[in-house]
Amino acid sequence: MKKISVLFVCLGNICRSPAAEAIFINLLERKGLKDGFIVDSAGTGSWHIGKKADSRMRLAAERRDLNILSRARQITKEDFKEFNYIIAMDDSNFRNIQDLKSRTASTDFASIKKIQDFRSVFNEQEVPDPYFGGDEGFDYVLDILEDSVKGFLESIF
Ligand code: 4NP
Repeated sequence: MKKISVLFVCLGNICRSPAAEAIFINLLERKGLKDGFIVDSAGTGSWHIGKKADSRMRLAAERRDLNILSRARQITKEDFKEFNYIIAMDDSNFRNIQDLKSRTASTDFASIKKIQDFRSVFNEQEVPDPYFGGDEGFDYVLDILEDSVKGFLESIF
């Protein structure tokens, strides 16, 4: 059977989208669904290409037994062909993804969504950018994403 492919996208690909990717993979593993999925993350920006996720986010994730292993990359036009779902962390990411898609071939099929459209516990309409804030912001991002990533998986089935 063809795998379902999901790309999580934020600005830098070192805080929010790598966290969403790790949380989603962990959820799939716990539900025995991992083999049916391809999961990745990317940034709309290019500043951090090749870098590990921000150490503050990796530490916050490790405290929850989540390993963030990804290396930052920038979203490309090919991603619209490769992925079934492209999931933005905030409205600005969503707009930038739509802009890029509008400049690609019409055969591209990815469904572009915002992760907070799948929230149930937290009321945030966007995943706040923790990069310039304190350590507590990273924990809050993980709390928010654990809720909405679960909602996203439920929406697929
Ligand atoms: P992210 O956070 O989009 O969640 O990875 C950011 C990381 C880096 C920057 C901004 C946001 N930056 O300006 O370098």
